[in-house]
Amino acid sequence: MSLELALLAVSPEQHATPLLALAMPRGPMPPEWTALDQATGGALGRLIGSGDFNGKRDQTALAYPDGHATRVLLVGTGKPDEGGVAAVRRAAAVAAKRARIMGTGTLSLAVAPGAAGGASPADIARAAAEGFHFGGWHYAALRKPPEDPKPDLTRAELLLADQAAQHGLTLGDAIGAGQTFAREVQVLPGSQCTPTYLGNVAGELGRRHGFGVTVLDRAAIEKEGMGALLAVAQGSVQEPRFIVLEYKGADAAPVVLVGKGVTFDTGGISIKPAEKMEDMKYDMSGAAAVLGTFEMLGRVKPKLHVIGLIPSAENMPSGTAYRPGDVVKSHLGKTIEVVNTDAEGRLILADALSWARRYQPACVVDAATLTGAVVIALGHTAAAVMGTDEPLIAELRAAGDRAGELVWPLPMFEEYHDLIKSDIADMKNSGGRPGGSITAGWFLREFAEEYPWAHVDIAGTAYTDREDATRVRGPTGMGVRLFGDFLLARAG
Ligand code: BES
Ligand code: MN
Ligand code: ZN
Repeated sequence: MSLELALLAVSPEQHATPLLALAMPRGPMPPEWTALDQATGGALGRLIGSGDFNGKRDQTALAYPDGHATRVLLVGTGKPDEGGVAAVRRAAAVAAKRARIMGTGTLSLAVAPGAAGGASPADIARAAAEGFHFGGWHYAALRKPPEDPKPDLTRAELLLADQAAQHGLTLGDAIGAGQTFAREVQVLPGSQCTPTYLGNVAGELGRRHGFGVTVLDRAAIEKEGMGALLAVAQGSVQEPRFIVLEYKGADAAPVVLVGKGVTFDTGGISIKPAEKMEDMKYDMSGAAAVLGTFEMLGRVKPKLHVIGLIPSAENMPSGTAYRPGDVVKSHLGKTIEVVNTDAEGRLILADALSWARRYQPACVVDAATLTGAVVIALGHTAAAVMGTDEPLIAELRAAGDRAGELVWPLPMFEEYHDLIKSDIADMKNSGGRPGGSITAGWFLREFAEEYPWAHVDIAGTAYTDREDATRVRGPTGMGVRLFGDFLLARAG
């Protein structure tokens, strides 16, 4: 299923569509819609004037007036001073989700100026495009097709009379498509989404967009001396992969993006409890964010040099599995005492961070569903960010604010570093539960030599078990909008 977007310079009362969505803040009917109100026989004015619809955020009201549109859906964006790109993105997502559930096939959205704050036409269009993709997504490929299938949302139109907005719509379309790409990889069961599968997905991406992809198999990973990645992989019949993507739109020091690609995390010998273990199919969400970002890059083709690195393995308990107490030698040469086989993500990332040195990167940013502790610290609202470079962290925070994928810093005080000291090796792979996200960050930092580095822990934000007005339960594609905004801002 793919979603086609269009920008139409037509006012809502002149447009025939199966679903006309109107985003507006609290307050009276926007004067711009007077003609539309007349064309709907005063239906809009009655909905708003009666107080049945008051513009509260996420509130919706559906009407079937006489006139051009079969249905009119009012979507609230909250207080007028909360208007802006976030409100537009959200309203577009709410409308797209409703359209998908109703099965209208096509959606047309008009945004009242008050809902957009002072955002430029291009920014409004970009936010709407991202919202359309985000809200319209659902996954039914593994269900028996229903007898009377409802049409998917295949077309979304933004009614906005400004051609400068086309550029924004195109960008938002690419970012939204990248995010959908990530979600479609995330959602797959561990039996299907294996390290081999991720390598194939990357290869296919590269062929479709014409960028370089190299996939290292177990033998090549051994030859490279990636002992930490191999240790995690050794308990599984699934072969590990180390995936390298290169988008070269400029001759410059690259930005390197690293994504954790654990395709299923049982915990290994330090096995996890059964409760919610099924969610550990999402432990490759960092990898999915990198792949989705490359889908975006392939579409937008910005003047940037970006490398994507995905270390991928399955973490299984078995007779061949690595065990607590084992000492492994990393790609960098530092040795690691494995005190908990469930702290596997940092092991595979360590080898990727070490590998990244060869590019003399402008910076390295990794995304990983790394710790349960980040869910305790920040819940499901924001991802944690840590790193060695304050400007890079600030850049990521700003990108997250704009993109609506929030990140918040955790402190890397030296005291936390002490917690991963080992008696027999250079470090151990777990500092225990207290400060678990930060000790994980310190572990990664041991391998992030020679370049500015930041780490984004997306364990709380990569998937959701709560359905809301904008999304279904399941994968969120977290990281694609963050990386997308971060990169496109760098491209200028
Ligand atoms: N993949 C998990 C982290 C995770 C937890 C992601 C919950 C999403 C939701 C990671 O590999 C892990 O198991 N981390 C351990 C580390 C501990 C053993 C030091 C954790 O957070 O409990
Ligand atoms: Mn784990
Ligand atoms: Zn994990």
